[in-house]
Amino acid sequence: MLDTLPTRPQDPLLGLLRLYAADPRPGKIDLGVGVYRDESGRTPVLDAVKAAEHRIWERQDSKSYQGMEGDRAFLAAFGAFLFGGRPLAAVQTIGGSGALRLAADLLLEAGSRRIWVGTPTWPNHQAIIKAGRLEVVTYPAIDRARGAVDFPALREALARLEPGDVALLHGCCHNPTGAGLTLPQWAEIAAILKARGAVPLVDLAYMGFGQGLREDLAGTQLLLEELPEVLVAISCSKNFALYRDRIGALFVQAKGEAARAAAQSTMESLARVSYSMPAAHGAAVVATILEDDTLRAGWLVELEGMRRRIVALREALAAQLAPLWPGATAIAAQEGMFTMLPVTPEQVTRLREAHGVYMAESGRINMAGLRERDVPRLVEALRQVGLGAA
Ligand code: LMR
Repeated sequence: MLDTLPTRPQDPLLGLLRLYAADPRPGKIDLGVGVYRDESGRTPVLDAVKAAEHRIWERQDSKSYQGMEGDRAFLAAFGAFLFGGRPLAAVQTIGGSGALRLAADLLLEAGSRRIWVGTPTWPNHQAIIKAGRLEVVTYPAIDRARGAVDFPALREALARLEPGDVALLHGCCHNPTGAGLTLPQWAEIAAILKARGAVPLVDLAYMGFGQGLREDLAGTQLLLEELPEVLVAISCSKNFALYRDRIGALFVQAKGEAARAAAQSTMESLARVSYSMPAAHGAAVVATILEDDTLRAGWLVELEGMRRRIVALREALAAQLAPLWPGATAIAAQEGMFTMLPVTPEQVTRLREAHGVYMAESGRINMAGLRERDVPRLVEALRQVGLGAA
């Protein structure tokens, strides 16, 4: 029966990785998948991670099972670090994607049927929600011309939510546009969701890469303070540079102790019938870093260094691209790894084939894939494919 299966197209973002790897041109520029690179083009293992791994190697005396919720020390340390003493149900997940899928499964079990998603968004958001058998309702949330959130459109859409509906929100560093929300806007979102009886599912995959770690968490914290039910899907892929270790978490705020225990047991039983329990290594690394003052301080310095590099690249690209495309000034005001360039899929193909510049078909670029010295070359390639020619 397997011969009846059609061959599916490759995931567009991960497919770019393969195309890039197969390109022999030395000057190629990879602005595709969201992976941090330093000025030499490497994605290094953080020093804090190396030190934690060394300690784990020395101290680990067993590889016996940990349980369906994952590493309790990781969940306790991470929960305390991010959300103080707030009582939350928590499960270690397989990256941020695993957290989103578990969230969708939990919401379906809890009787929710629809998730509202502002567009454009990370392409896999809709696929994950649909695989979780929930309906996706989309609404335009970004003003492409300004490169910023279209807050009136967002507000108008959220006002249409019904009790039991869920709003998927980017906690910071919007993927793909980098458009951020202000704290007063988060407060307005909280008030609308409260009035509508709707629940936010916050995707926090890039915290620490925007305004700063605490600043990037502020919107999510406000939702947790204002609303009785909140789901937060977190990834450690980028901020701990633990991409392939697939470490994330789903934190859930529920109405009181009994509901929290029910959410916890539901998440664990959903995990049990899917992958049973998550892999230990990445969680042990994060827990080891967070539990040790020196390692934690070192990690925060490394994270801040990555953030500053991205901010500098944003400023350089905004300044050099603005003569070609005035909208480029928004790039410096945006946050996180991504921004979107106003290019057509045909221009994206020409950039790749003629100039060795790799980016998503949507025109999204990973700022952290740039090297400062490549900015003029990128701008020239964009000029040659006709950006700003109209
Ligand atoms: C991205 O958007 O490039 C990253 O989140 C990686 C991924 O899994 O797509």
